[in-house]
Amino acid sequence: MELSLPYALNAELTHRCPLRCPYCSNPQELERRDKELSTDVWLRILEEAAGLGVVQLHLTGGEPLLRADAELLIERARSLGLFVNLITSGVGLTEARLRRLAEAGVDSLQLSLQAATPSLSDHIAGFQAFDRKRQAAALIRATGLPLNMNVVLHRHNIGELEAIVELCLSWGASRLELANTQYYGWALVNRETLMPTKEQLKAAEASFDELKKRIGKQMELIWVVPDYYAELPKPCMGGWGRISLTVSPSGKVLPCPAASGIDTLTFDSVTDRSLASIWYESAALNAFRGTNWMTEPCRSCERRFEDFGGCRCQAYLLTGDARQTDPVCRLSPHRSLISDAVTAANEARPAASGSAEAPPSYVYRGSAADRRRLLHTDRMD
Ligand code: SF4
Ligand code: FES
Repeated sequence: MELSLPYALNAELTHRCPLRCPYCSNPQELERRDKELSTDVWLRILEEAAGLGVVQLHLTGGEPLLRADAELLIERARSLGLFVNLITSGVGLTEARLRRLAEAGVDSLQLSLQAATPSLSDHIAGFQAFDRKRQAAALIRATGLPLNMNVVLHRHNIGELEAIVELCLSWGASRLELANTQYYGWALVNRETLMPTKEQLKAAEASFDELKKRIGKQMELIWVVPDYYAELPKPCMGGWGRISLTVSPSGKVLPCPAASGIDTLTFDSVTDRSLASIWYESAALNAFRGTNWMTEPCRSCERRFEDFGGCRCQAYLLTGDARQTDPVCRLSPHRSLISDAVTAANEARPAASGSAEAPPSYVYRGSAADRRRLLHTDRMD
């Protein structure tokens, strides 16, 4: 099998974050600050990534702005010819910080938003962040950088779809990604609370089609499908270890941000080996490349070269065996794990977005101790 080269690197600079979103894709076991890679190691990773063929760098977290060296990393990445996208909650994005990021050469900023209604947005984030996001959006536009927005959709904000689109348009966004929740990490813990009903989803899809026509080229609208309602799985990450890689805050090299949840694999660290040797030789990255690892029905299915058997993380999290067909697939012997969750979601009554009903009760990410440490010791500007 000929090995492809990675196109994109997700650099998780830290798992620390002022927000506590209940759908966060970070692992439930968040990596601690004292285990984070040093600036020098990140600079080495960037060089090795460029040498390996990476052309896109996504600085992410947690909240990457909590790292004071973000500008330095951006500058180095740009000098290596990488396109640099910074993914942020907007908290800590002051005018001075944004100027430094722009001077360092950041190409694009992606700002997250939780809902169009400020109180709901803050409730979902577990933090009063809405006003800071509004200010961050205005600052980004004033700098002349494109504003890309990202909203994770679920039961409590999907009814606000039109208001979300209008709000992002009014903030001057050039792109809005509407990402239906994927159930890994903290989202899986909150799955029952977060999953929308079929009725909600149908209404949102109709609204999306109508909005896309109405808005035209004013703002690019992207819809990430909710795979629990699909019949066939997505080709997750474009295939395991095929086109992108993730480096965790402590240096673990992963095929995707959720993979550290697969306890049966050991992921190599950039503190022990070069990125290139890990890409080519790591047992964990090689575990699900190609098709030899597949079990039935994938092993003899015609679609195996298109969807690679779906998502390995989802297969592991739901069946306990990462070699299984993604249970989203209608051919999977484990499909009932998905359909039972969907049935349960449709039996429970959805809380209306922005209604006066009691706010949904989530298991927020991170512990209270993590949060105290963050608020008292970390720099946010
Ligand atoms: Fe894809 Fe496997 Fe389902 Fe075939 S059986 S459609 S390869 S997940
Ligand atoms: Fe890890 Fe799909 S999220 S392979």
